[in-house]
Amino acid sequence: MFFVKYPHRANFSFADRYDEDSGEIELRGKRFKLAVGSHEGDLYHVQVSGPRNWQRNLCLESLDIPKKSKRARLKAVCDDDGLALELAGRSGPLFRARFGASGDKSMFALEFGSTPSFYGMGEKTFGKVELSGFRAKFWNTDVWGDFHFAQWGEHPTDPSYFSLPYLAVRVGDECFGLLVHNPYPAYMETPGSDESRVFVEWQRTSPLLQIGSEGGQPNLWVIYGPTIKEVTRKLQKLIGVTPLPPAWALGYHQSRWGYGGHDDLLALDEQFEKHGIPCDSLWLDLDYMNGYRVFDTNPEMFPGGVDVIARKLRATGRRIVPILDPGIKSEPGNPVYDAGLEHDVYCQNPEGAPFVGMVWPGETVFPDFTLPDVRDWWSGYVAAFANEGFGATWIDMNDPSTGPVDPTDMLFGRGTQPHEAHHNQYSLGMQMATTSGLLAARPDERPFVLSRSGFIGTSKHAAVWSGDNLSNYFYLRVSIPTAIGMSLSGQPFNGPDIGGFGHDATDALMVDWIKCGFLFPFCRNHSGKGTRPQEPFAFDADIMKLIRRYIRLRYKLLPYLYNLFIDQEELGDPVLRPMSYEFEDDGLDLIDDQFLIGPSILQAPFVTENLKFREVLLPGTEPWYDASNGEWIQPGIVNVRKLKDATPLYISAGAILPMQLGTPTDNRKDFSKVRFHIFIPPAWSGESEYRYRSDDGLSFDYRSGVRSSLALRLVAVDGNVAVSIDQPESGFGKIEYDFVVHGDVKSLRCNSSVARLSRASQTLTGKSIKVLAATVN
Ligand code: GLC
Repeated sequence: MFFVKYPHRANFSFADRYDEDSGEIELRGKRFKLAVGSHEGDLYHVQVSGPRNWQRNLCLESLDIPKKSKRARLKAVCDDDGLALELAGRSGPLFRARFGASGDKSMFALEFGSTPSFYGMGEKTFGKVELSGFRAKFWNTDVWGDFHFAQWGEHPTDPSYFSLPYLAVRVGDECFGLLVHNPYPAYMETPGSDESRVFVEWQRTSPLLQIGSEGGQPNLWVIYGPTIKEVTRKLQKLIGVTPLPPAWALGYHQSRWGYGGHDDLLALDEQFEKHGIPCDSLWLDLDYMNGYRVFDTNPEMFPGGVDVIARKLRATGRRIVPILDPGIKSEPGNPVYDAGLEHDVYCQNPEGAPFVGMVWPGETVFPDFTLPDVRDWWSGYVAAFANEGFGATWIDMNDPSTGPVDPTDMLFGRGTQPHEAHHNQYSLGMQMATTSGLLAARPDERPFVLSRSGFIGTSKHAAVWSGDNLSNYFYLRVSIPTAIGMSLSGQPFNGPDIGGFGHDATDALMVDWIKCGFLFPFCRNHSGKGTRPQEPFAFDADIMKLIRRYIRLRYKLLPYLYNLFIDQEELGDPVLRPMSYEFEDDGLDLIDDQFLIGPSILQAPFVTENLKFREVLLPGTEPWYDASNGEWIQPGIVNVRKLKDATPLYISAGAILPMQLGTPTDNRKDFSKVRFHIFIPPAWSGESEYRYRSDDGLSFDYRSGVRSSLALRLVAVDGNVAVSIDQPESGFGKIEYDFVVHGDVKSLRCNSSVARLSRASQTLTGKSIKVLAATVN
């Protein structure tokens, strides 16, 4: 497995014979079996079985496969060149694909009728939403360990920490998805090119889309949309939606490599309290451990135990989240190491002994998370650990990082399986085991795990952050397309280290980053050892106040974010989305520095150093509300000046946004009391709907009906607004609500009562805005 070398089509033999009755294909005289399955929802599964290692799908997590269907949009046919797979679109085939093999490698080579565009690819730092003309690898990487600094400082590196071998393709106005469901390293080469990246002819990518794996059974899923929304929802349901996280996990998180134990946590807690900054959790990096030994808390850091400080933090509602690495210090006498030997849990080297890598504690061994009994073993430790007083778990280095040691010597299945077969899903097994440990400790609480690496299925078990970035504008800028790629590839709970991990964040960068990232699905400020401290209060008062403003605004908008996560679980929609998810316009995907949070909030932050003005494209046909000053702006391109306090953030016409009351200064969240902010352009006529849900934010009771909901429908005619509300579900009691109107409405009726409107003011991103507070009797 080489990082930047890709299979070439010329080295493959393609199926030149196909027997439609028996499903047999022939590649240069070698026979394989082809199966094409049709499933409800226009999902198609293409599987090729044969000799070598193509006999079964080794994926740890199964897919949630819809029932078989008779519909056959995807057809395997035999033409003059042999086997062709064709996906029928509205007016003719969307693609024609050939299947080939080169030893154990497999390839689908797709030809399109008209120019395609590409999206997704999981976690990439290419800096683009639209991904034509790229070669990409899918092999979980410890980027800082595996690439030279000169490569990752300010440039995209590929592969990345997280492998999601998925590509969404748009041809004309129809979209479909391609999922490589195979844990072996995968690759993609997309046609089309950005000429600035072509210096030598061979840098131009193939005119065909080439997608496949370097080994393992070819299992390709083809998901027909036709819209990007439908494709994404179907993909998400197939690989697994993200179960509703505990509400606290959607808050602001404070982390730094360097926090030790009791005293640091207490000091942080006091600072957040003193400055009125909401923060739901404090994270402990390696320093809380005893000599980097996993599951071994340094007692000197926690006089009297972790629970002493955990109990103190309960008063402010903050949880402690410790890091766990898979690498266990190889050291007789280390109880975890010894127990692992006894239970035979370690990955083996070709000589049948535990495989040894080099991570933080020096020589380390690695539990084989592909084995169910090993996952149970690890779960037991996690449960005991959670019971010490920890609130959640942060799992790192699970790419797996083996330091300078060649990972291909690390075998799975007690020495029976090659490394390549499981490398990409090593972290997935660790997530499964860690989540089940947390559940064993607290069966009534939704677990929360943050992981660096992942694979298809991680969406069901963990949030992810985008690994080690740097405090510079390159990483700030790419954080947007990276998050969009993850969202479209089925990993909705994601976000970068806000402020940047390596190097020192300048005041300007920190402010720009929080303005950009404060509504990302996962919002954690994390920084590396020895870098400039990055907590909000580590900056001068005026900078601290700016950072605080955005953290508070996240908490004000938490009811909106929480409901987006409910939609994710129910419908499969991502929280952070590209503009093309909601608006039709061919050019939208060429804009890499704008994004939507849910359907109604559009952000166009300043992500380039020293920029004073930027262009913002406001999509659609309706005006947008500028959250910095309350003005309505017509759609189209606007030139926006950078302001000290504000960030370009716009809200769509007719939007109904649930918010917490007032300005949150702590992390309290009560979803039973909500203020609906409605946004109505002058003399507007239109309609909108919103469904608000409230529950306890922590337990699984919502699954058995302990949830309340409100259904809102808004109709405006020439600035006269009528809102009808009813409460279809009351399992979590009554929801108290009121309204604030942004815009100049002539009248407001609520369920046929006329609302009294009084002048009030409201601050969102910028200055204080005049609004109307509505009182309904
Ligand atoms: C890795 C992680 C980083 C962490 C560090 C020390 O580099 O990506 O977040 O702080 O290890 O544990």
